[in-house]
Order: sequence, then structure tokens, then C-alpha cells
Amino acid sequence: MTDFVGLAADIAREAGDMLLAKRPARPEAVETKSSQTDVVTALDRASEELIRARIHAARPDDAILGEEGGETGAGRVRWLVDPIDGTVNFMYGLPDWAVSVAVEVDGEIVAGVVNVPTRGELFTASRGGGADLSRAGAPPERLACNTGVPLPQAMIATGFGYLPERRVVQGQVVSRLIGQVRDIRRRGSAAVDLCSVASGQVDAYYERGLMPWDLAAGGLIASESGARIGGLRGAPHSTEFVVCAAPGLFEDLHDLLVPLHPDRDA
Ligand code: IPD
Repeated sequence: MTDFVGLAADIAREAGDMLLAKRPARPEAVETKSSQTDVVTALDRASEELIRARIHAARPDDAILGEEGGETGAGRVRWLVDPIDGTVNFMYGLPDWAVSVAVEVDGEIVAGVVNVPTRGELFTASRGGGADLSRAGAPPERLACNTGVPLPQAMIATGFGYLPERRVVQGQVVSRLIGQVRDIRRRGSAAVDLCSVASGQVDAYYERGLMPWDLAAGGLIASESGARIGGLRGAPHSTEFVVCAAPGLFEDLHDLLVPLHPDRDA
């Protein structure tokens, strides 16, 4: 039986080391994808190629869904890969970007790894096995999200999609929320946001319109830290909408967000 967490961690570390070594000192010319703000750099592609090559070498029959290369292969085991989550931060030399690698077996995420190379932080989780944070030279730290935080004292993370119409509505939601919570952070990487819930750097996270590779590894890490993760109006969490916080705060934040998201694309 493959040690999926160990293999994903080795691969995410290698990609992170390559990116740290090659990242540009200043923003470089990039290509755009779904909108002018949705960018891809040569290093997003190089990172995904490296990750795909390592997965193929270890497990040639597995399927892979990657942000840049799409879906390849088919089978019970599928890897979900974001070669750089937080590409805009990466472009600007801001620290919050990550390599995110998750493994799904029969449709269920069983292993998740988020490597944040600039901070020397490696977040890992296996389903039912808890979540850990490893730093070089230190023993792994078991992660437990913050509990018992009332909404007015909650630090909330969120993110914005790339489509301008969606961003306008997301800004309106933020303007309604900001008076009712401690503060709001937009760090620029969904994987980092989810790991920040797990490590207690923020109390909660919500976002609409993620992609599967943004959510897969960080979502498992957050839920294994004790956070509840779900969608709006009782729906399961999905790329459509995710709310993530310890039980108690989860319900309060969820109930605050529901009327702010009637049937609008926010
Ligand atoms: C984006 C980041 C961002 C989130 C966006 C994602 P990318 O991923 O995670 O924080 O708000 O929704 O698309 O494009 O940098 O891989």
C-alpha cells in the first residue's frame, strides 16, 4: 500500500524547492486565462510538469487533475494538483503561495499536502489520521483549529474569484461582514487560508467559486484539525461554496453568509 502522504510530501517539497530557487525577483510577463487577473507563469507549468513526472514514475496508472494540464488518465486513484496556489502572490514576491497535492481514492480525498516554501511550512493530513505542520529541524506539530471563538471576535479569511462581476459582489459581501467580525484577511491562496484555519492563524474561511485543486488538500487538512467544512444552506462543501471554522463559529458564520448570498453569483 502506497504511503500517499509521504509520496505527496516528497513531491510537493521537490516542486517547492524548484520554485523557491527559480522565482523571479520582480513580476514577469505572464499569460492570462479566464480574465485579465487570472494569470499563469512559466513556473506554474514547470512545477506541474515536475509533479506529474514524479507521480507517473511512482504510480503510472493513477489519474491526475492539475490546474494547468487538466485531467489525464482514469482509475480509482486520482491526484489533485495545484502547482502554485497563489500565483499572483508568487509573481509579486509575496510569501503566501503553496504547492498543493491531494490524493483521492474512489472519489474521497484520503491524503493532502500543502507546502508553503517561503515559510518552510509543510502541512499534511490523512483521512482519519489528523493533520500536522512540519518545519525543518523540528518535530511535527499536531494541528487543532481555534475553538470557542464568538463571531464578533473572529478573524475571517476569504478570497476573490477572477471574474470582475463576481468580484464586485464578493466585495459587497465583505462590506456587510466587516462590521460584525474582528477582521478580514485576503491572503491570496485558498490552500494557505485553509491551513491557516487548521493552525489557528485565522478562525474561519469562506469563499465561493474555488476549483477542485484549490480545495482538495487544504480542505482535508482543515477538517482533520477539527474544523467543520460545508457549503451554504446545508449543502456539502464544494467548489461552489465553502465555509470552514470550528463547530459553533461555523454555524454563526454560515447563518450570517446565507442572506448575503441569496441566489447571486458571489
Ligand atoms: C486562487 C487563490 C486565491 C483564491 C482564488 C484561487 P490560484 O488560486 O487560491 O486565493 O481566492 O479563488 O483561484 O489561481 O492562485 O491557483
